[in-house]
Amino acid sequence: MRILFIGDIVGRSGRQIVADLLPSLREQYSPDFVIANGENAAHGKGLTKKTFAFLMASGIDVMTLGNHAFSKDDIVNFIDDKRLLRPINMEPFGLGHGFGFYQCQDKVIGVASVCGNVFMAESNTNVFKAIEPFFEKTADIRIVDFHGEATSEKIAFTYLYANKLSAVIGTHTHVQTADERIIQGCGFLSDAGMCGPYESVLGRDIDEVLRKLADEEITRYTVAETPAIFCGVLLDFNEGGRCVQIERLQVRPLLES
Ligand SMILES: [Fe+2]
Ligand SMILES: [Fe+2]
Repeated sequence: MRILFIGDIVGRSGRQIVADLLPSLREQYSPDFVIANGENAAHGKGLTKKTFAFLMASGIDVMTLGNHAFSKDDIVNFIDDKRLLRPINMEPFGLGHGFGFYQCQDKVIGVASVCGNVFMAESNTNVFKAIEPFFEKTADIRIVDFHGEATSEKIAFTYLYANKLSAVIGTHTHVQTADERIIQGCGFLSDAGMCGPYESVLGRDIDEVLRKLADEEITRYTVAETPAIFCGVLLDFNEGGRCVQIERLQVRPLLES
């Protein structure tokens, strides 16, 4: 079983590169199941029904969210979609699903979305405890999108649950890390990286960020409108649901010199 996990999709160029590349990536790598983080898909923060529909139609099976899950009011209109997961440990708890189970060929794939606690004001219960309900139902493969800032927290979480999980893939920092490994049969990567404007600061307009950070201006959030980088990770699992191979993917735009 092969799963493609796609990192945070940011803004218009992020949505477009996923739609443009996914058909050829499906052909080249033949993933059986595709998970993508869509927390920044609509204007860099949150998700709308239209952007969700556009991305799912491009070939995504399950979409996870993060600290921006509720940034767009429109989310309440489709948060109950079983293919959409918001962090288990983020209020409002009554809305949507934190994990789900999906039939894929003869296997059941469990996917969970969690939000870290370190430097993440939006999560309000302990991520190490909040995941426990995910283990109550049987599944052949269990994947966690760990949405967080701190690499240490993601690594510690994976050591705690390695024997119960098939993979823990980090999201949120928008910078792909090069620490892919297999911990006791559990695939791990601190951050899958971003699908979004490459010439930017984590997807945000560079000039605007400099005005905010260097000049201390109060600015609003503007997504950069530059060609996008694509970031993701491919995971292979054996019959027992253990990870046997993990490979990072990155497609950078051709830049003008
Ligand atoms: Fe993000
Ligand atoms: Fe985030």
